[in-house]
Amino acid sequence: MVTNPIPQFPAGFLWGVSTSAHQIEGAADAREPSVWDVFTAEPGRVKDGSTAAVACDHYHRYREDVALLADLGVDAYRFSVSWPRVNSPGGLDFYDRLVDELCAAGVRPVVTLFHWDLPVTLDWLERDTASRFADYASAVAGRLGDRVAKWITLNEPAEHTLLGHALGAHAPGRRLMFDALPVAHHQLLAHGLAVRALRAAGAGDIGIANSHGPTWPASATPEDMAAAEFYDVLLNRLFSDPLLLGRYPEGIGELMAKSPEDVATDLKVIAEPVDWYGINYYAPTRVGAPQGEEIAFGGLSLPSELPFSVREIEGRPVTDFGWPVVPEALTELLTGFRERYGDRLPPVVVTENGCSCEGVEDRERIAYLDGHIRALHRAVEAGVDVRGYFVWSLLDNFEWAEGYARRFGLVHVDYTTLERTPKASYGWLRDLLRARR
Ligand code: BGC
Repeated sequence: MVTNPIPQFPAGFLWGVSTSAHQIEGAADAREPSVWDVFTAEPGRVKDGSTAAVACDHYHRYREDVALLADLGVDAYRFSVSWPRVNSPGGLDFYDRLVDELCAAGVRPVVTLFHWDLPVTLDWLERDTASRFADYASAVAGRLGDRVAKWITLNEPAEHTLLGHALGAHAPGRRLMFDALPVAHHQLLAHGLAVRALRAAGAGDIGIANSHGPTWPASATPEDMAAAEFYDVLLNRLFSDPLLLGRYPEGIGELMAKSPEDVATDLKVIAEPVDWYGINYYAPTRVGAPQGEEIAFGGLSLPSELPFSVREIEGRPVTDFGWPVVPEALTELLTGFRERYGDRLPPVVVTENGCSCEGVEDRERIAYLDGHIRALHRAVEAGVDVRGYFVWSLLDNFEWAEGYARRFGLVHVDYTTLERTPKASYGWLRDLLRARR
């Protein structure tokens, strides 16, 4: 049982929870298909064979879910808008109702425009998808912009590139390995174009939610150090350097698009200043030289031809997913960002943090959140300008290729009855938020 009070965060610090459209909404019949609908329909893609056709049925139960948010006492709710739904008649009406409901409950809406559910007619290998994204961003801002508190262009382009296009573990299921890099470039370009489009539509307070975590070399040997450096470039710096420094890490730029001229011009768009920088953090990764065999990694099987291998972080508790619980790595990550990017780093918001575990008496989740919030506070004390913290996730939901087997929610969802039951961690967070007032 955790008893020490959580230290005070700066005034105006934003406490919130996150979800994404495909993982909770259901109502798949009221929108165009996305790449995830196609992917989940293919046998063997999702571990429990499930789909997100119903998920938490949030589309029909959003009022109940907003009431849970209000009772929890969060300042803000991060959710994503489904591009395939917006493309369908009446699709934006749903988000209009949701945003009104949130505002009436005193919860500030934070909108993610892309959380992996690409309309099936589009493809991130195509450069034009970036322009289409900017048009879509304008349409959403035109309708919701008067009430949305913060905008997030993309969620984790790194994972969408790596898992969806390089390794084939997520939709659209491609296994292109390094030929997937243009997918990263086109998403980053889409981000920059959308920042401009949102501003042109009068929207402000714009950021991105990138996943980051410290990379720990397996040892000090040159081979392990080089492998860890490579991994860090690929998963971290490839996504933060272009946004914050206007350049790709050395040696990568030429792999990003078909034409090097495009890359140089695009980087100016990609580096369009954001108002804040969102970081999704779950765990650090220990990385060493390749070991010549398939590697099991957080539910994935990484191919042996990769120029690195992921090693176990020993002596730590692990979540249901097998991810190590290392709160102090969040402090390391944030102070490392501050060192690397200096004044070019805008205020930071932790846009996702949380863990998967079973049961409604979820002591492991309380311990995880308690440890990470304290680690976040240490980063604030060390001078990092952190403005908010969002727990992943409000509800148990469709955990992508894992189906419904992993439960990240503060609120339990019974997938037969769709009944919501707040877990112990929900009560713990509510108490924390009340104590702060
Ligand atoms: C994603 C979420 C996902 C969570 C837990 C993040 O990578 O943004 O959609 O559910 O991690 O795996």
